Amino acid sequence: MKCLLINLIVFVTAVNNSDTRKPLFLPQLPVGIYRLNFLGVTRCVSDQRNEKFKFQYYLSKKSANKTEIKGNITNYIPFDDSFNLEFNMAIKDSIGGWKDNAYIHKSPKACSTLKMFLGDAWIPVMQSSGIQNVSCPVPVGFYEATGIDTDLFGTANFPKTLFYGTYRFRFSISKKDEVYGCFILVLEIKRPWESNN
Ligand SMILES: *[C@@H]1O[C@H](CO)[C@@H](O)[C@H](O)[C@H]1NC(C)=O
Ligand SMILES: *[C@@H]1O[C@H](CO)[C@@H](O)[C@H](O)[C@H]1NC(C)=O
Ligand SMILES: *[C@@H]1O[C@H](CO)[C@@H](O)[C@H](O)[C@H]1NC(C)=O
Repeated sequence: MKCLLINLIVFVTAVNNSDTRKPLFLPQLPVGIYRLNFLGVTRCVSDQRNEKFKFQYYLSKKSANKTEIKGNITNYIPFDDSFNLEFNMAIKDSIGGWKDNAYIHKSPKACSTLKMFLGDAWIPVMQSSGIQNVSCPVPVGFYEATGIDTDLFGTANFPKTLFYGTYRFRFSISKKDEVYGCFILVLEIKRPWESNN
């Protein structure tokens, strides 16, 4: 089954093999085991008329080395597999500018894909998002996050190695090229022993 994980691996392998079939931006960055340092979570501009999933998340620093995602999400319609899950990745270059559209990915079956992608992190992420019923589809409702510990993403089905760098991900829930909700995540992929500054 096609999933984000496989595509991320394909992305990494394609880059390693200098595969030019995909319009990839090839960062000249070292690859390795990593940890994630979350820098920010923000809303993104989507067409208000189509906004069926309203993300109002922000990043909150709990202590020197702990961050949580807080805020809330409103589902005006159920979040189910009739949507696509898209992410558009930008990467920060050596002079501090953003290289947009460095990688674009779209998966069908948004809810199941997200569940598969989060793996062991799915249940704790859903529960700390205030979503007690952790099955797909996620029903209509207002869900207030008690605080999603960003360390939880360490147990997700992400690739074991990634390019070190600073990334901005725009996650969108879409159908037929219309965006129904989105949010932006900025994070650093760091060497495990590197500090947060
Ligand atoms: C976070 O910081 C605390 C106190 O400085 C320390 O005890 C803990 O091991 C740190 N945790 C991680 C994951 O680095
Ligand atoms: C949802 O979160 C936003 C941003 O954190 C906040 O301003 C708003 O008051 C929250 N809504 C409710 C109903 O709590
Ligand atoms: C959980 O959600 C599913 C799908 O929306 C629904 O069929 C089920 O009854 C819900 N379970 C509970 C305990 O609310």
